[in-house]
This record gives sequence, C-alpha cells and structure tokens, in this order.
Amino acid sequence: MNYDQPLRGALDPIETASIDELRNLQLGRMQWSIAHAYNNVPAYKRLCDEKGVHPFDLKALEDLSRFPFTTKSYLRDNYPFGTFAVPNNEVVRIHASSGTTGKPTVVGYTQNDINTWADVVARSIRAAGGHYGDKIHISYGYGLFTGGLGAHYGAERLGCTVIPMSGGQTEKQVQLMRDFDPDIIMVTPSYMLNLIDEMDRQGLDPRDTALRLGIFGAEPWTDEMRKNIEKRLGIDAVDIYGLSEMMGPGVAMECIETKDGPTIWEDHFYPEIIDPSTGDVMPDGEYGELVFTSLTKEALPIIRYRTRDLTRLLPGTARPMRRIDKITGRSDDMLIIRGVNVFPTQIEEQILKIPALAPHYEIMVTREGNLDKVLVKVEMAPGAENQGARADDISKELQHHIKSLIGISTRVDIVSEGSIPRSEGKAKRVFDERKLV
Ligand code: DLL
Repeated sequence: MNYDQPLRGALDPIETASIDELRNLQLGRMQWSIAHAYNNVPAYKRLCDEKGVHPFDLKALEDLSRFPFTTKSYLRDNYPFGTFAVPNNEVVRIHASSGTTGKPTVVGYTQNDINTWADVVARSIRAAGGHYGDKIHISYGYGLFTGGLGAHYGAERLGCTVIPMSGGQTEKQVQLMRDFDPDIIMVTPSYMLNLIDEMDRQGLDPRDTALRLGIFGAEPWTDEMRKNIEKRLGIDAVDIYGLSEMMGPGVAMECIETKDGPTIWEDHFYPEIIDPSTGDVMPDGEYGELVFTSLTKEALPIIRYRTRDLTRLLPGTARPMRRIDKITGRSDDMLIIRGVNVFPTQIEEQILKIPALAPHYEIMVTREGNLDKVLVKVEMAPGAENQGARADDISKELQHHIKSLIGISTRVDIVSEGSIPRSEGKAKRVFDERKLV
C-alpha cells in the first residue's frame, strides 16, 4: 500500500484558507518581498527612491499602489543579472524569453524558487484534474522557455510519470501518444490543433487516444477554441496561465470543476488590475492591465510588474483565491483598425462559430493610402466542401459577423487545407505590416 498517495491528492491548506488568513499571509510576504528587492537590488532601490517610497511605507496591502511599477525595460536595462537579489552562486537556474526584438528577458531561480515553482505547478495540475500516477505528455518547449521545464518539475512533484517530449517532431509526438497512452497533455492550444491534424493525417481518430485532459496555455485562446478541442479530442481542456518574469507556467490555473478562468495562486503572486493609461488601480471586476507582485521569490523579486495582459479579476469559485477572466490579449497585440480596437481573439471567436471553418487562420493588416485594410485568411474544415459548404458563402458569412459584432470591414479569403503554417509552440497569427512602414 502506498501511504503517500492520499496525501499527494489533498489540497494545500492555503487553497482552502479563509480570505482573512490569505490577506494576512500576503501582507507579511509582501513586506518581506519589497524589502528584499529594495535592500538587494540597487536598480529597484533607485526606482523607489525616485518615487519617495520606502518598504516601511507598506503597512497594508492597499499601500502597494504607492510603489513604482516595473516593466520589461526594467529587466532589459539591467540585463542580464542586474535585477537579481541574491549572489550569482545561489542562482541554480536561468530562463529567458526569446524576445522578438533586442535583448532577451532573463529570469533566475534559487533552489527554493525552483521548489516553489514545482509546488505551484503540481497544485495547478491537481486543480486541472490530474493526480498521482497520471502519465503526462509535455509538448511545451524545453530550454530557455519556461513552459517545458516548469511543467516537468510540477508533474514530477505531483507524482506523475513525465514524457518530456518538448515541441516539434509532430509525427513522432503522435506516435508516442499512441504507444505510451498518456492521460494528460500539456501544450499550447495552437500546437494541439497541429497534433490533431497529424492524427487525422495518420488515419487515427483523435477521440481514440488515452488522453482525458489537456492543460493548455502560454498564448491567448477562446472558449470557442476550448469547445473545438474538447469535441475533437473527447477530453477536458483547461487554461493554465503564467509568465517567465513571475515564474513561468503555474501562476494561475483553471479548476476543472468550474472551468471559469484561472485561479491565481495568490499566496505567491499578488494581482492588481490597473488602468493602462493612468496606472490607477481598478476595482475587482473591471477590465484593465494585469500587474503582479511576487511574494516569495528569492532570486528575482518583482514588484508591480506590468504584464501587458488585459483581463479582469473575478471572485473565487472553486477556491477562495481570485480568478482572472480569459486574457483577451496583450496590449501590444491589440490592433487599432480605423480607430476600432480589435483583438485577434475576437476574430478567432467568430471563425470558430462557423462549423465549416477550421481553427487555422491568419490576420494580415496593411495600409493603403490612409486606410487600414484587414485580410483574414482561414482554412475550410476538412470535409466541409464535400458536405456542400461553398467558400464564397462562408467568406461572406464571416465578413458579416466580423462587421456586425466587432465593427470592422475585412476581406476574408478561404484558403486550402494545410496552407496556413502550423504552430509548434506559440502561434503567430497576426502580421501587421503597417508597423514596418
Ligand atoms: O508562456 C509561460 C507559460 C508556459 C504559461 C506554459 C502557460 C503554459 P512567457 O513566454 O514569458 O511565459 O509568456 C508570457 O504569454 O504574459 C501572456 O501574454 C501569454 N500567456 C501565457 N499563458 C496564457 C494564457 C509563458 N493561459 C505571456 N492565456 C503572458 C493567454 C497567456 N495568454
């Protein structure tokens, strides 16, 4: 008999603690975290000094709003290790974001940080419906990206069997899924679509795998995409959120019993929503930019970090801790089309409402004269043509939905199956050529 098993299945005590207990814990930890950053990171001390605040000013959680924000440029300007709060020999791991332009963003972890990360990812997998003994196929990339190794350590911590596949080698991924019968897959939703297509190509029925659960994240995806993946694979699909600067995957996780947006593990990551233009803190329930303060991180404490992710805070449901609503997108992904703000996820939602369309699309934005032009390229669903769907009609239908529900005129091209490049990690779906001009 394995006496460990019941213990490994139990929730962490803080997951069921009262809000008062949680707020108390957060205050003590926040005081520690801000003092730790201030005393050990000269670049952070400078930011506080310029704003005239000192860690002693944090007497209540609300006082956090007096402290300065940190941004990606705080990390870039102090590249590579100038934001670390411990000596280099205490840093046991480095990760970095690829960064499309300029220097990558570097993050560091002490052994305690790695342990905390494994704990929150284990907690996340359990909240997703995974448990001790499950086999987990991990297709998030291993390496400098936090997805693969973050998921890996958490899965091991929960007592699962890990298949560390990483991204790429799509054909082989499918073969191993068939041979090893994993219960759970952790992957970006866009790469999952690619894997499903590969199963089709190999003549396998995607509903016949042993999978019962998918833990998807690292990029925005809609509820329509959830339904599409759940139906095609016959599994439950839940949302995992995170970012390298805070830790990696496992900052927040959707609970299987409610599937109503990721619960933030608030004992380690303190959330705020701000108005992105004024920096003012918004009440829970209002949309704005998500800002995080790390409460326990040793190597890289990060205070009031502006994630650029747009969402809102919602009250706890499956756990007392607060949730985030689905991320509509990053403020940097927002397209302004002739004055109208548009997120790629809004277009995804409309595409997936039309059963004859596949979830593979690209959005190209150009400028002709003074006019923004939007072209949506989308593939027809396999077999749709045989069932009588006509590209012309479908293109008009999608154009009409986008115009009436989002408010922009687009051209819609229905393209042949397989012509939209497939993702092996985070999908790149938007090409805004106006930015090149
Ligand atoms: O993507 C960490 C991660 C790995 C999360 C695996 C989940 C699963 P970064 O590469 O630093 O870290 O990218 C972080 O990705 O600020 C969001 O814009 C986006 N993102 C991450 N998870 C979600 C999600 C990892 N569930 C950035 N929904 C974040 C929407 C997400 N966007």
